[in-house]
Amino acid sequence: MENSSTPLISNEKRYAESLDVYWKKSRIVEVLERWINSYFSETIMKEIKVEKEKELMVLGIGSGPGQIEYHVLKQVLKQWPKITDTVVEPNLSHINKYKDLAAKKARALDGVSFDWRQHTLQQFRLKTQDQPLKKFHFIMLFHVLYFFEDLAEDLNYLKSILEDGGMIIAMMECDDSCVPLITEQFPQFKKNVYVVSTRDVEKELVKLQIQFVKHRIQMNLNVTDCLDGESKEEELLVDFITQSPFFKETASKSLYSDIIEYLKSIVLPKSEDGKSFIKCDCDAIVITK
Ligand SMILES: C[S@@+](CC[C@H](N)C(=O)[O-])C[C@H]1O[C@@H](n2cnc3c(N)ncnc32)[C@H](O)[C@@H]1O
Repeated sequence: MENSSTPLISNEKRYAESLDVYWKKSRIVEVLERWINSYFSETIMKEIKVEKEKELMVLGIGSGPGQIEYHVLKQVLKQWPKITDTVVEPNLSHINKYKDLAAKKARALDGVSFDWRQHTLQQFRLKTQDQPLKKFHFIMLFHVLYFFEDLAEDLNYLKSILEDGGMIIAMMECDDSCVPLITEQFPQFKKNVYVVSTRDVEKELVKLQIQFVKHRIQMNLNVTDCLDGESKEEELLVDFITQSPFFKETASKSLYSDIIEYLKSIVLPKSEDGKSFIKCDCDAIVITK
């Protein structure tokens, strides 16, 4: 049996299940699809200074099942009709779901050839270190920096494999979003993720003298069932918020109720239909070269 000090990410199946619930309750895919089709494509994508005739070399890191990167690729394809996308993702069930999505959306993704790598970024770096350095024009890190043990090392490596004129986009929860707030309030969860919010990444980028621009994306997480209900979804969502697998079963009763009370204290004013939401805004950090 897992205990509350085990990081959720180390349990592939439970991680994938709780991530699914978090996505559903935050409607992150819909919110980001809108943002990608408007703000990203009209403003951010313009900062990639690569000739349109070139084959665009893309690197997706921690791509998950690909729902978000799929929308990005569709926009990028409008400018660069030929893309090679290297997908670096350690979770096999996520890679398989991404492959299914790519097959289902083959027509929309016409022009993209995928190179699948079932690795962490750190394993990918080791595996490719004896080969000539391959560079990329566009590197996506959506909600993955949390798991980088040595952020400075990884950021420096990413900068070294970014082509001139290229762009890195990293998205993560902002400082006053639910997981960073919980880990600040209950420091015992901090060890379940290496980096918690954009604040940690910004500090590192400043130290490394890497310039960046930050863009805010507003989102709310529906925690109604967490606060009032007794369901499997409730348990999975609390697992995600604490980044601890089987938290309800393994944590002490008092810690569990402290978490629920804390969530209640950060609930936004109730919506008209009586649902309870907490803030889970994201920041997109953009680095150009
Ligand atoms: C929160 S999910 C994000 C998935 C997707 N990018 C999205 O935003 O929808 C984090 C993903 O990062 C992957 N991951 C965890 N540690 C990683 C690492 N060190 N290198 C690359 N990917 C990693 C996980 O397997 C998981 O699929």
